[in-house]
Amino acid sequence: MSSGNHKRSLTGIKPTGLVHWSHYFGMIDPAISLSRDMEAFYFLADYHALTSVRNAEALQRDTMEAVAVWMACGLDPEKAVVWRQSDVPEVTELSWVLSCVTGYGLMERAHSFKDARAKGKEVNFGVVSYPALMAADILLYDSDVVPVGKDQLQHLEMTRDMAGYFNQQFLGQSCYDKNDQWTGEGLKRPEAHVREATGSVTGVDGRKMSSSYDNGIPIFGSKKAIKKRVMSIVTDSTSLEDPKDPDTCQVYQMYKLFSTPEEQVELAANYRGGNFGYGHAKLALLEKSQAFFAPMQSRYEELINQPERIEAILQDGAERARAVAIPVLNRVRAAVGLPTR
Ligand code: TRP
Repeated sequence: MSSGNHKRSLTGIKPTGLVHWSHYFGMIDPAISLSRDMEAFYFLADYHALTSVRNAEALQRDTMEAVAVWMACGLDPEKAVVWRQSDVPEVTELSWVLSCVTGYGLMERAHSFKDARAKGKEVNFGVVSYPALMAADILLYDSDVVPVGKDQLQHLEMTRDMAGYFNQQFLGQSCYDKNDQWTGEGLKRPEAHVREATGSVTGVDGRKMSSSYDNGIPIFGSKKAIKKRVMSIVTDSTSLEDPKDPDTCQVYQMYKLFSTPEEQVELAANYRGGNFGYGHAKLALLEKSQAFFAPMQSRYEELINQPERIEAILQDGAERARAVAIPVLNRVRAAVGLPTR
């Protein structure tokens, strides 16, 4: 198959603080897999974080931590281009140009904006223009594929719209030929690469694992804290002696993430056999998950204690990212009538 090494995948990582199992299985691991098949451009979205973060130190620390997390989980910064969004400030210029071709009505229809307003949150202008910055992130690098969760699909659709508006309004054409191939002029429309449903990763309370529910199990952190979390997973009240149904138990579902089919059969038999309590199952889960994450945990510890190494990676990434961004921005500047550099 010509999956095409020449294709570029790009994604933005919001520094989130605590990293949970669902982040790993839902986002980090799929994006790292993709980075092995395509040219990968992965950046830390610190400008985006400014719509809500009000703590300079926290922003910087979370950004560094996120790089260490992704590298610990297997992202290779020699192959992938990894940078901090704000180290290529040209993206804000493109964001401005895009906001000038995008109707206010479109911005207002963004879920991110509607949610913020519905929840009575402060809607600053950054929240309103968030989709234009995200579109600029993508279009500045002539990206082909953008791995995102379902919640970001609408932003991707808006990005495609903005590329179209730009091409029509400034170049008077779609910049796509009759076979729908990009002509190399104007802006290139990206494709979304939606991750498989990650519904299988539930939180300790049985709902979807999410930072906003505070029900996650962290990957990194003290063993004691992780154990406490695992032992707090909600189960039904079947007594120790009684047989249990593995298929309706979320401890068993979580165990599947870390184990071989044979191990799963064995645990299921224990459930059905009786005299096997949920506490036992949780300890089995804890052990498996610890073994799974142990190499990542030690790589993380090593990296987080070398901030200068992380910084050097980010600077190298920014240089490589900028080498792509500058010619694209010049193409944009020429199209709109701004001087090129
Ligand atoms: N908005 C994305 C999120 O909340 C993060 C993001 C910013 C992004 N810029 C991007 C994702 C560009 C993909 C491409 O997760």
